[in-house]
Amino acid sequence: MDIAVIGSNMVDLITYVDQMPKAGETLEAPTFQMGCGGKGANQAIAAARTGASVMMLSKVGDDIFAENTLRNFQQNGINTQYVEKVSGVSSGVAPIFVDSSSQNRILIIKGANAHLKPEDIDRAAAELQQCKLIILQLEIPLETVYYAIDFAHRYGIQVILNPAPASKALSLEYACKCDFFMPNETELEILTGMPVANMDQVQAAAHFLLEKGLKNLIVTLGDKGSVWLYGDQIVKVPPCKVNAIDTSGAGDAFIGCFAQHYIHSGNVLEAMQQASLYAAYSVTGKGTQSSYPDQTQFNLFKQAQQ
Ligand code: RIB
Ligand code: NA
Repeated sequence: MDIAVIGSNMVDLITYVDQMPKAGETLEAPTFQMGCGGKGANQAIAAARTGASVMMLSKVGDDIFAENTLRNFQQNGINTQYVEKVSGVSSGVAPIFVDSSSQNRILIIKGANAHLKPEDIDRAAAELQQCKLIILQLEIPLETVYYAIDFAHRYGIQVILNPAPASKALSLEYACKCDFFMPNETELEILTGMPVANMDQVQAAAHFLLEKGLKNLIVTLGDKGSVWLYGDQIVKVPPCKVNAIDTSGAGDAFIGCFAQHYIHSGNVLEAMQQASLYAAYSVTGKGTQSSYPDQTQFNLFKQAQQ
């Protein structure tokens, strides 16, 4: 396996709204879509669809969603040996609201994801040790995230940590042990308590984290592109302009595609450029994973961009 994703899976319940209801109000919304999501699963699918061999460590619930989630991983060629069912709890679900400007608002109910434990990493140790890269997010218990970081360290496996959803409880000491720390602008704002309204502010917030000892910080900035900071260096990748329909899961598309390119080329800038295009493709379609292209679709899109 190239990549192990130790993380969440969720069922996305996406409602497209013209307007959010006020308290006590009932409003009709135009459309609804259900799909496979969860930050961990999304990143795994993006990595797999761009050509990586991927294993997933995750928990599904004891409900009608579980089989569909497993089948979805398998149809995308992801190893599910360590995707396990937890009895008596629901699968993770995510009610998502996408407004007419294509922005998303997401609620998550962790369900079974809260049951992914350090012991699960121990049980998968033999397979995990063979991986080149581990990808982590924060939709599973923090103790499991920390355990995975220590595990990766012990075996010289690279780590990408996506601090999403942002948690002030995240230990920066652990963040510093990761090779790549990849928040979006909102997460950067929450983690630092600093404003991120423009590029100068983003850089100031980023430097605050770098001074704590982060190795590589990559901030995804939506339609403003992305930026990579390390030491006193800063590398900006411009956005790819597209007609945005639904931005949910775009950050995950970026991370999965980045991971695949990075482990194959070792070139961070090139991986960011590919990831930026991949995420751009994803915002042109509804849903999270349902909008991630396979290699053929992605190649056609890239040709059209030139
Ligand atoms: O990042 C997008 C994802 O966040 C959605 O798929 C949803 O499930 C939540 O985990
Ligand atoms: Na999308």
